[in-house]
Amino acid sequence: MCGIVGYIGYREAYPILIKGLHRLEYRGYDSAGVTLIDDDNKLLVYKAKGRVQDLEDFVKDKDTHGTIGIAHTRWATHGEPSNVNAHPHYSQSESLALIHNGIIENYAVLKAKLINEGYTFQSSTDTEVLVQLIEYIKQINNCDLFAAVQLALNQVVGAYAIAVIEKGNPDQIIAARKSSPLVVGIGEGEYFIGSDASPIIEYTNKVIYLDDEEIAIIKREEDPKIITISNIEKTHEIKELELNLSQLERGGYPHFMLKEIFEQPETLKNCMSGRINVEGTNVTLSGIIDHKDKFINARRIIIIACGTSWHAGLLGEYLFEEFCRIPVEVEYASEFRYRNPVIHPDDIVIAISQSGETADSLAAIELAREAGAFVYGVCNVEGSSIPRNTDSGSYTHCGHEIGVASTKAFTAQVTVLTMMALAIAKEKNTINASRYLKIIKGLSDIPSKIEQILKLNDRIKELSLIFTYAQNFIYLGRGYNYPIALEGALKLKEISYIHAEGYPAAEMKHGPIALIDNEMPVVTIATNSAIYEKVVSNIQEIKARKGRVIAVINEGDETMKSLANHYIEIPATEECLDPLLTSIPLQLLAYHIAVNKNRDVDMPRNLAKSVTVE
Ligand code: M6R
Repeated sequence: MCGIVGYIGYREAYPILIKGLHRLEYRGYDSAGVTLIDDDNKLLVYKAKGRVQDLEDFVKDKDTHGTIGIAHTRWATHGEPSNVNAHPHYSQSESLALIHNGIIENYAVLKAKLINEGYTFQSSTDTEVLVQLIEYIKQINNCDLFAAVQLALNQVVGAYAIAVIEKGNPDQIIAARKSSPLVVGIGEGEYFIGSDASPIIEYTNKVIYLDDEEIAIIKREEDPKIITISNIEKTHEIKELELNLSQLERGGYPHFMLKEIFEQPETLKNCMSGRINVEGTNVTLSGIIDHKDKFINARRIIIIACGTSWHAGLLGEYLFEEFCRIPVEVEYASEFRYRNPVIHPDDIVIAISQSGETADSLAAIELAREAGAFVYGVCNVEGSSIPRNTDSGSYTHCGHEIGVASTKAFTAQVTVLTMMALAIAKEKNTINASRYLKIIKGLSDIPSKIEQILKLNDRIKELSLIFTYAQNFIYLGRGYNYPIALEGALKLKEISYIHAEGYPAAEMKHGPIALIDNEMPVVTIATNSAIYEKVVSNIQEIKARKGRVIAVINEGDETMKSLANHYIEIPATEECLDPLLTSIPLQLLAYHIAVNKNRDVDMPRNLAKSVTVE
């Protein structure tokens, strides 16, 4: 939610900032802006509603000279997307410019006080309140910018990653964070800031991840200083980034989403590499081994996540209960954090998140830790907040995911959860040796089976043309494929804007079947499973009401071929691994329908990749 980038050094800042904004655009894309300090030490502020490209078009003929600057791409919280609400925001005297990712929850109280002091406001944002507050504090205390930021942040309730620069001071950026991510890049005689490392990686791979309530004083040709809002000086280890540039480019694909769908054979190999041994006889996850007693003695597992990661969590429930015989609850982090849940010290809480920055998941983790539970993170972005706030964890190692619709991160999350279930079950002795080996073998074969499914891309594209103009969709699945029905429906709605619902197939007759008529496409996951016959009956019920069945089936299943109106044939695997295959055609179907409808697949309306606000 909002991307921030900053530069101070010896190069022209503007091209670095614009490139950085393009890289961060997946975080928010309703308006963008940039501030530079020019040779006369004046602040140049340019803002535009729309995409980063709109900002570039607007700035084309303007002065963009300067070796220090900050820039922002916005996902609106307070105030509609507009030029005036875009960041950076000026202070009243136009001596400060500030960018912000997060929400200042007590902005209304602070704003009222400032209005009382004679301040006027141009925008409807919470961010403008913060920059005015900093200026006000600076003036009444006659202090420097760092001290004013520190004092102001002590008055702020909410979440922030900010960067501030000051007219007349071209040698300094002040940056700070709380509950929103911020990375400082350390170059040779130059420094960068970013919401993540993507705007930084081509200049340096050395970074510092700021922690909550830390302020970085970044001065030209001096080592950055980090001081908390309570005035404690901190030293941070400089980390080396593992990100590589090719992950940030489309590599010939029309959209990141399609690239990421096609990367899955490779990303799942990476995810399993070093965890499944070469002989294919053992799964080792260091995060589990290091704490194996916790898992063996766990009273319960609570999985917390949001969106697609929550769907992966539902699969975790099936896996952990089947193989480890540990009761599991799967919770939306946003509900869990506010419902006064019962948490025991011998519960294990697993937080699943691609970004590692989801605000609700972070708050749920805090609650679990306060209650004394052991918290395990399953995350993709290395160095993000969740891995840094959990007791242990496993990375999904699927590379940078840019498309707002999560694809490769989902299958990697499911792969990690499967490996976790196997590793814990082995320690607990709740799985027999031959089943353990069979599932490891099945897991190792998944990447090549996904390659086979990806060859169906053209067929799925053709199929998509038949359904592009449907108004509604229903997705059905049972057992391990019920969460895939939910995930398939979510993929379709978020990128095509077609209303879609996922249900456990047997629930249809309890209400939703009333929706079925000859206009309703029903995507049914009907691969072989212990309840295959029951799924056949569910399809009969849909057909009897003239629903149009699009079935995902196993290769050679003649019964289903004759029953479904349309079918997609995929290879068979172990039942518990089926979601890793059945999710792929549904990703492709959603993708092609959205492309047919001319949707902005990678940056769908109203959404952002990383949800760092409540
Ligand atoms: O980064 P996270 O996995 O914590 O994000 C959770 C959701 O916001 C995310 O999965 C969202 O639902 C995706 N847009 C789904 O494609």
